[in-house]
Amino acid sequence: MNKTKITQRLDCEPNGIAEAGAILRNGGLLAFPTETVYGLGGDATNGLAVAKIYDAKGRPSFNPLIIHVNSFEQAREIAYFNENALVLANAFWPGPLTIVLPRRSDCTVNELALAGLDSIAIRIPSSLVARSIILAAGRPIAAPSANRSGRLSPTRFEDVLEDLDGLIDGIVTGDVAEIGLESTIVSCLATQTVLLRPGGVPREAIEKELGQKLVNPTSASGTGDAPLAPGMLLSHYAPKASVRLDATEVNPGEAVLLFGSNEIKGTENSLFTINLSPTGDLREAAANLFSGLRKLDASGMDVIAVSPIPEIGLGEAINDRLRRAAAPRD
Ligand code: TXA
Ligand code: MG
Repeated sequence: MNKTKITQRLDCEPNGIAEAGAILRNGGLLAFPTETVYGLGGDATNGLAVAKIYDAKGRPSFNPLIIHVNSFEQAREIAYFNENALVLANAFWPGPLTIVLPRRSDCTVNELALAGLDSIAIRIPSSLVARSIILAAGRPIAAPSANRSGRLSPTRFEDVLEDLDGLIDGIVTGDVAEIGLESTIVSCLATQTVLLRPGGVPREAIEKELGQKLVNPTSASGTGDAPLAPGMLLSHYAPKASVRLDATEVNPGEAVLLFGSNEIKGTENSLFTINLSPTGDLREAAANLFSGLRKLDASGMDVIAVSPIPEIGLGEAINDRLRRAAAPRD
């Protein structure tokens, strides 16, 4: 990956925070401290900004990201809260707890940030610096930990720069992530609350507030004792239509998902065609992937033919998602 950007160093004073907010509003990438670890933030409502996050992290696949908000009101604008979620938000926000909730039907967060899921993981950080940055940005911020994929989560800005200097637009320095461990993630999608990832808030504290035990992902999934990573629990968005990859020709009655300037033979006969990026830009393609699949699926065609997409950069993650979408289902 080319480290070609000049990464602006910003402080936690009002001017630095205002500049940080401007970077985010303009679709840039900003590393910022939270009480848990440094986050790599981008405008969650901007698909291109979200694609840049995956790109900078070098993630092999699109995992859904945690959406950071500044207030409970802002959280309510994007998700539905059940009784348990309200109890937990009341007890632990702001703080190191992430709650997975059904996303609102009019949720403005881009589908790529949610990896196409109907649920959304939200937290309000207790770090004042983090909250003032989100406030300055004026929109929800998607932020995974600010490390390259497979490396340790950073707690100091020097750690972040080691991985990401030259790959991001700015970094807010001067505040250390005190907890040094990611947030606890619980899912409130069902009546029982599931502990998806242990973290900054201990299980016991959550159970005390809820007045009930947290359910383990293993018992919730009913597959025995094998430990499950949160990512494995997710049933990612699968279109109703079947997906045919590396198509070189379109059959009658197929919808078409194109990339770049490679036309597929017979495309002109299809009623439903979307090009993920006519210029062949993989970030733009990533930003359009889930919405494109949804739209073609809604067309009611039985098959979506997909043109070849290069297996480089974000293309690897795009192809990973498409291969899952194309995998045989029951
Ligand atoms: O402390 C933290 O949570 C830090 C700081 C920056 O806030 N962020 C963080 O993000 O650790 P990340 O991307 O490294 O971890 C996100 C986790 C992933 O394991 C992902 O699978 C899970 O959150 N996740 C996100 N959305 C989800 C959803 N809708 N359902 C289940 N799990 C979800
Ligand atoms: Mg992480």
